[in-house]
Amino acid sequence: MQDAVRLKSFELFARDIGSVDVSLLHALSISVGWPHRPKDWEFLLSVGEGIVAVDGIGRVFGSAMWFPHGDDFATIGLVITTPRTQAQGNGRWLMDQVLARCAGRDLALNSTRAAYILYHSLGFATEGQVYMHQGVMPPVTAARLVLKVEIEALAPDALAEIAALDHAAFGADRMAHLKGLAETASIQVLRRGGAIVGYSMCRPFGRGHVIGPIVASSDNDAIHLTAVHLDGLGGQFVRVDTRSEGAFADFLRRNGLPAAETVTTMSKGRRILTERPGEPIVFGLAGHALG
Ligand SMILES: CC(C)(COP(=O)(O)OP(=O)(O)OC[C@H]1O[C@@H](n2cnc3c(N)ncnc32)[C@H](O)[C@@H]1OP(=O)(O)O)[C@@H](O)C(=O)NCCC(=O)NCCS
Repeated sequence: MQDAVRLKSFELFARDIGSVDVSLLHALSISVGWPHRPKDWEFLLSVGEGIVAVDGIGRVFGSAMWFPHGDDFATIGLVITTPRTQAQGNGRWLMDQVLARCAGRDLALNSTRAAYILYHSLGFATEGQVYMHQGVMPPVTAARLVLKVEIEALAPDALAEIAALDHAAFGADRMAHLKGLAETASIQVLRRGGAIVGYSMCRPFGRGHVIGPIVASSDNDAIHLTAVHLDGLGGQFVRVDTRSEGAFADFLRRNGLPAAETVTTMSKGRRILTERPGEPIVFGLAGHALG
């Protein structure tokens, strides 16, 4: 007699992501090697919407979330299927559900290598690469060019002061998300002639800290807006997700933060990366899912 038996696949149902315990979502992201803590999931649930694939007794085998930014745009993230159920149609089924629920919105996401074929087949177009720089910070932050203006902290209740700058760089209204981030993030701003021309946030995430969003109009401004956080993180694990391939990326590498992984920014509908010289851009992402 055989001592093992292969059973047929079971049925999965879509449920609202808010209906399952965060510990199950945490176990799901751990199953694919992602660093999210339960607290990181709680934050994402507080600013986004999503579905999970559950079986008849409530076990979670997949997730997909979307994050509305204003009325006509959303970013998609946290698309995960358990290794046990991968390559059986679960991911495509979850994405079909998300696309139906996001009908009428322009969409963007940051695709892992594993998901690229799926998103491409669903009509998402490639826009750029995001490099995940991470590592343990050395005790002293690397040297940088002198900056002739001051960087100062911004109180969480003064977020309205960065709304226009962020909209110009990100291309959509994400103030609701920034408000959520500001509950745990420290915020620094750079002013010229009294006007805020750059800002950065740093918050606990995953294995340590994430610095992002970072919005600036030049590599040097972005470097200083990042260094101001790095100065307090010697010996700690730090992550910065950036599309930069220039001086900003070099600065991260010099601080012991090499590019560990790459994801591909993709969109469906309008293009989201519309960089113009001298205009503010997103140097550091808030996170892969938030854009
Ligand atoms: C990416 C991921 C969600 C895909 O989920 P999945 O359940 O395997 O997806 P599906 O079975 O529906 O496959 C979707 C497509 O991927 C491709 N694919 C899936 N498995 C494949 C395999 N083993 N070899 C080649 N292509 C494969 C196929 O093109 C398939 O489309 P099809 O409908 O034409 O067969 C899953 O691999 C995963 O969770 N990976 C780790 C986390 C991650 O990277 N998430 C993406 C975040 S952006």
